[in-house]
Amino acid sequence: MVTSLFCFTVILMMTNGLESTSSYDEKYYYQPGFAADNIVSRCDFSINSCRFRNQHNLALYNRYFNQNKLFFDRHSLLLLNINSQRSQQYPGARLLTPYYQAKYRNACLFISYRYNGPGFLRFFIIQQDNDNRCIYSYDCSKLFISSSSTNIIQENKWNSLELQLDLNEGDVRFFLETHFNSTNKSGYFAIGDFNFGYGYCQNKNENHCYDNIVNRHINVAPTAN
Ligand SMILES: *[C@@H]1O[C@H](CO)[C@@H](O)[C@H](O)[C@H]1NC(C)=O
Ligand SMILES: *[C@@H]1O[C@H](CO)[C@@H](O)[C@H](O)[C@H]1NC(C)=O
Repeated sequence: MVTSLFCFTVILMMTNGLESTSSYDEKYYYQPGFAADNIVSRCDFSINSCRFRNQHNLALYNRYFNQNKLFFDRHSLLLLNINSQRSQQYPGARLLTPYYQAKYRNACLFISYRYNGPGFLRFFIIQQDNDNRCIYSYDCSKLFISSSSTNIIQENKWNSLELQLDLNEGDVRFFLETHFNSTNKSGYFAIGDFNFGYGYCQNKNENHCYDNIVNRHINVAPTAN
């Protein structure tokens, strides 16, 4: 009697366990609609750096915030000053974002960036989950490729991207990498907005770094430090 009651309890516990797993699976499905209507993380760097951090041993981004003075037409941004003495010592910079939950399989990343001067050479974004995947790249020296993209990148203008994400591999973070033109490290590079929402992008600017065929030099396995 005692034994069968015990067995019953164990089975009940197991069943409960399975039930909670399956309800998680149901939730972990496609978010309908446009991600622009489901933004869960919004950052314009006006309050803080949104837990973005610099990889050390590379050039550094600093948060710019000034209510009275604009830089690149904005009051707040994350700014990489390529002219600085510190920047001159390095081949580029890498920003690491915080983690975003894979609550649904589909999400969209909204990013704006701007640059000026000959010091900026390329920008690319790596999605890290179980894997490292290059989802976007722009290279100044490869204009023949860039001009075929749906989004024409221009100097001295805010360039807005929408990158459709596949979160099938779990929670994600991003590496935002900038390489300098080693022959003339002058100018600025900046990130203005970084928003994350579940659902679909209205425009799709992800190019998966042309499947790394053109951008073989891109290190798609960044070091953890
Ligand atoms: C790199 O800098 C040199 C010197 O200013 C410039 O001539 C060249 O166009 C730059 N390269 C790119 C890809 O911008
Ligand atoms: C580097 O770029 C700056 C700004 O565009 C320019 O004034 C300077 O002449 C360039 N230097 C070289 C060596 O190209």
